[in-house]
Amino acid sequence: MRSVVNFQVIGFVIMVVSTATIGCDGCKKRDVGTGGAVPTEEPSEPVEPLPELSELDLDMRKVVLGRRLYHDARLSGDGTVSCATCHSLDHGGAEPRAVSVGIGGQLGPINSPTVLNSRYNFRQFWDGRAADLREQAAGPIENPAEMGHSFVELIPQLKENSTYTTAFQEAYGSEITKELVLDAIATYEESLLTPSPFDAYLRGDKDAISAEAKAGYATFKEVGCTACHSGMLLGGQMFQRLGVIKDYFKERGTEITPADLGRYNVTQEDDDRHLFKVPTLRNVALTSPYLHDGSVETLEEAIRIMGTYQLGKDLDASQVAHIKAFLESLTGELPPHAREPEAAAAAAHPREMRARPAGREQNSRPTKG
Ligand code: HEC
Ligand code: HEC
Repeated sequence: MRSVVNFQVIGFVIMVVSTATIGCDGCKKRDVGTGGAVPTEEPSEPVEPLPELSELDLDMRKVVLGRRLYHDARLSGDGTVSCATCHSLDHGGAEPRAVSVGIGGQLGPINSPTVLNSRYNFRQFWDGRAADLREQAAGPIENPAEMGHSFVELIPQLKENSTYTTAFQEAYGSEITKELVLDAIATYEESLLTPSPFDAYLRGDKDAISAEAKAGYATFKEVGCTACHSGMLLGGQMFQRLGVIKDYFKERGTEITPADLGRYNVTQEDDDRHLFKVPTLRNVALTSPYLHDGSVETLEEAIRIMGTYQLGKDLDASQVAHIKAFLESLTGELPPHAREPEAAAAAAHPREMRARPAGREQNSRPTKG
């Protein structure tokens, strides 16, 4: 009896600690209906399911306004680049290029991480230089190599657009300001949760993923991937060195760039050289190429590299295949409001959309009437 009580207490402590570490507002531990029995596996499970979107307190007027801003290339200096250019919803919230391309075709220094589920990152950017999504969003807009705009010019431009002035009034009861632009974009990003078959599995639907994926999850835990890729995002909770066991950069063979220094760029501490935020593995099957340098094309290769450089283990072909199947079970579904209604409708009814007059802007509200 005594040991059962202790077990519950330990489980509770683990739950509180892990929730606090991730620092999320919506992630409470779920009652999976064990009928009062002491859960046997749950407290030690290193991965947690995403909350349901309905559990989050999001103002849909801000979300929809943020969606418009996120997809609007007018937020860039020359009107050619939007957030979605480098964080495409059709590419798992990331981009199909090794490094980003900003205005005027400028090549950036690093691969763009996914924005999906990014609210649960403990910090933003590979080197963690932004504390949260609001702070992060200001970066690309004013970065000369990305969107190359300035808020001093952007805010008056947005104010000339009656769709925006009305939408800001409705969502915030205010005129347009820099802070509110960032808040709307961040609120939209906060709504981009992608529950996956693996979440269903964690919540008790044992048939939600394939036998291969289950074997892969077991391997993933067994070989030690969860030392770094754990929690709700399977990542996003800590900085770790790329090349814990073996020198990745030496073997990569190309010159070390400033972006390769990672966390060092923020702290200037020698110990922080080549430390990166451990990326989320949610939707990772969609976001090739991989690693901060975008140098790895396939998921198999990324898994093998992790085995070699992070764990000192040469994973065999069946381990890699199983882990890949597991990672594929982390591919989730975006909520219906994530995409612009025009884009979603165009995909469903291509001909009907072509017949419509161009330039109609009807997507500032959810389809409620
Ligand atoms: C030119 C391409 C480009 C554009 C445009 C762009 N981003 Fe990014 N984004 C990146 C790259 C590259 C990184 C990683 C930079 C780094 O870590 O140093 C990044 C990082 C991020 C992150 C951090 C994710 C994480 O896991 O750390 C978020 C969130 C994000 N961008 C959102 C946005 C939003 C919102 C916009 C529009 C306001 C935007 N981005 C515009 C390329 C771009
Ligand atoms: C010691 C910590 C650590 C361990 C253990 C670890 N990883 Fe990673 N993982 C990282 C870091 C840090 C990165 C980002 C490195 C970079 O891009 O520079 C990463 C990146 C990845 C990526 C690429 C993600 C992307 O979006 O580019 C995949 C896939 C991945 N890891 C899978 C695994 C698997 C599978 C295992 C176990 C075989 C594993 N990792 C073990 C720290 C770790």
